[in-house]
Amino acid sequence: MKKRIVLLPGDGIGKEVIHSAKDVLQAIAEEYNHSFCFETHEIGGAAIDLYGTPLPETTVDACKQADAVLLGAVGGPKWDNNPSHLRPEKGLLGIRKALDLFANLRPIKGFKNLLHASPLKEEVVSGSDLLIVRELTGGLYFGTPSERRDNGNTVVDTLSYTRKEIERIVDKGFQAAQQRRGHLTSVDKANVLESSKLWREVVEEKKAQYPDVAVEHVLVDAAAMKLITNPTHFDVIVTENLFGDILSDEASVLTGSLGMLPSASLREDGLGLYEPVHGSAPDIAGKGVANPVAMILSAALMLRYSFQLEDEAKVIEDAVQSILDTGFHTGDLQVANGRLVGTAEMTKLIVDYIKSQNAS
Ligand code: NAD
Ligand code: IPM
Ligand code: MN
Repeated sequence: MKKRIVLLPGDGIGKEVIHSAKDVLQAIAEEYNHSFCFETHEIGGAAIDLYGTPLPETTVDACKQADAVLLGAVGGPKWDNNPSHLRPEKGLLGIRKALDLFANLRPIKGFKNLLHASPLKEEVVSGSDLLIVRELTGGLYFGTPSERRDNGNTVVDTLSYTRKEIERIVDKGFQAAQQRRGHLTSVDKANVLESSKLWREVVEEKKAQYPDVAVEHVLVDAAAMKLITNPTHFDVIVTENLFGDILSDEASVLTGSLGMLPSASLREDGLGLYEPVHGSAPDIAGKGVANPVAMILSAALMLRYSFQLEDEAKVIEDAVQSILDTGFHTGDLQVANGRLVGTAEMTKLIVDYIKSQNAS
């Protein structure tokens, strides 16, 4: 299979972990006779520094022509005081919108031998396996912020959703539940927000189309609590943009670290951008200690969702599982009696496992 993959390293540890994904994909290409052609472009702070914009046209065009996109992370203190349109995060929001990547899938599954790495009790975390389906191109992130009024003391952010925008993500939630354990939790704040009332209405209307899925509505505050008191309750969670952002970072606690969570951002026709859930981690950037697992598992999701290469995706996931099971871990994971490794070593262990599997 021949594919063109655009790499958007971005900033901070994004620049480090993107190499890990590339190394793993090159190993897959060699072992399974594929041809992956990589092209690197700038986004975020790196693009601001080079081109004066967080999202150059050349980057958007390259992504539009690619078969899939891998993104590291954007942002950092260097650009934190920039005006809104010159913030790295604007580049990320811009590429999601430009490619219409409305469906963000964030799977969260604790690795068996890492249950003790979570600050939660092992018996609480054990067996948790959920998928957050986050709406990614609407809501507060894409409202029209006001100029500051009242001598700079009043601001307005707008939260708008159309029925159509809600319908398409809710469909994704139902479909994901059909392919998993048939349980969908729709998370909203329908006791307060108009947008959530429409959201709930749409979910209620849609459920007749998916009689094999059991649906419940949970308010976001209660969902936040339940995620850490009873995570095994959840199968698929479908929710709007900001709630999904917050709940997914919270859910990473189940796995022991934010450095473990991959994500897929998909357009209706299957074009996808794949990125870790975590950010550029300025506190550890440049030290070679970042956990590459979230990025590597994002590459596996790319093989599965964009290229339908299920066996190859699986071998990457098995490799990660096996290396973590052996006790190797990066510094973000609190592992008892494990072997501490850096980004490059963890990547090499995973690559070597992939090569050994195909040989055997
Ligand atoms: P963050 O996710 O970058 O870091 C939060 C904490 O988790 C830090 O202590 C960090 O060291 C740790 N961490 C995250 N990923 C890790 C990994 N792979 N290995 C080891 N430790 C890891 O969140 P933040 O500190 O709130 O934000 C930093 C910057 O990243 C901000 O500019 C923010 O806007 C940006 N951000 C970008 C994305 C993205 O590009 N998708 C996502 C979140 C935050
Ligand atoms: C994420 C990030 C982004 C978001 C930021 C960097 C804009 O936190 O991908 O989860 O909030 O969507
Ligand atoms: Mn986030």
